[in-house]
Amino acid sequence: MADIDPAVRSVDPAFRADVLAGLAAPIPAIPARWFYDHRGSELFEEITRLPEYYPTRTETALLERYSGEIAAQVGSGEAVIEFGSGSSAKTPILLRAVQPAAYVPVDISGDFLRESAAGLQSAFPGLPILPVEADFTRTFELPGAVRDVAKLGFFPGSTIGNFVARSAVDLLRAMKETLGEGARLVIGMDRIKDVDILIRAYDDAAGVTAAFNLNLLHRINAELDGDIPVDAFRHKAIWNDALSRIEMHLEAVRDVAFPVSGRRFAFRQGETIHTENSHKYGHRDSRILLRAAGWGVVAEWTDEQQWFSILLAEAEPARFAP
Ligand code: AVI
Repeated sequence: MADIDPAVRSVDPAFRADVLAGLAAPIPAIPARWFYDHRGSELFEEITRLPEYYPTRTETALLERYSGEIAAQVGSGEAVIEFGSGSSAKTPILLRAVQPAAYVPVDISGDFLRESAAGLQSAFPGLPILPVEADFTRTFELPGAVRDVAKLGFFPGSTIGNFVARSAVDLLRAMKETLGEGARLVIGMDRIKDVDILIRAYDDAAGVTAAFNLNLLHRINAELDGDIPVDAFRHKAIWNDALSRIEMHLEAVRDVAFPVSGRRFAFRQGETIHTENSHKYGHRDSRILLRAAGWGVVAEWTDEQQWFSILLAEAEPARFAP
């Protein structure tokens, strides 16, 4: 089938605005959410299977090992609300263990939602699956059918790490408001560890993460009428110890100038475009972050190496601090 003519392909105006503002900023940066076009999503799937990328398999193993304990704490018959489309292997593990009354996947992409809902429905034929197309970084309405059912939020993948602390707290607070009083949350968070292990996870030998990062430039060229010479940039992953995060950048390997949407940009050799943060949390840090948003941690499960944690938190009632 012929590809869609780029001239008629619809472009998200927010993508254009973020790229144009981000390339012109004193510290050039483009939000990581724009990685995930079709190719970017495929590359991310590939990343999750890389030997160096420990988070996915560590979290999956933790869920397999401890989902019974999670279920014992939570009980059955809750409505599980997953923030993200639930297309991963992790969702069925939790659903099988907690036997919910309903499952509500929430995602901004209706296509992903419909695909993953259909897949899960055949694995869980009797389970009401009620997808909600929404931006979960803000509060949204839950389906009426789960209004009077106890809520269990599920936010796996350490996606919380892709938000700076202030936005992470806003997001966790929005989740609390959406889920309501008495809600609980199962959340995956990546731990601080040896810097070499972290760097390898974000700069793998096969170059998949590099391709994932550079794909953003291909996407800009395809969707925003750009002419960026992609070979003028290289993938760079660094550990920012002061901010406890891996940063991904695209670094110019030579002086380069290019147009995007009719505007011209220039980068000197060595200058970078900051494309992603992936924050890592110590044992106490994760609790402080959750507490700042009104969630109290009631249980935590981690692997022998303490590389990754799954936390169970409870929405705290509003009260005055002593
Ligand atoms: C989606 N997110 C949790 C991934 C992470 O580890 O921060 C995205 C990613 N970026 C590079 N590799 C994986």
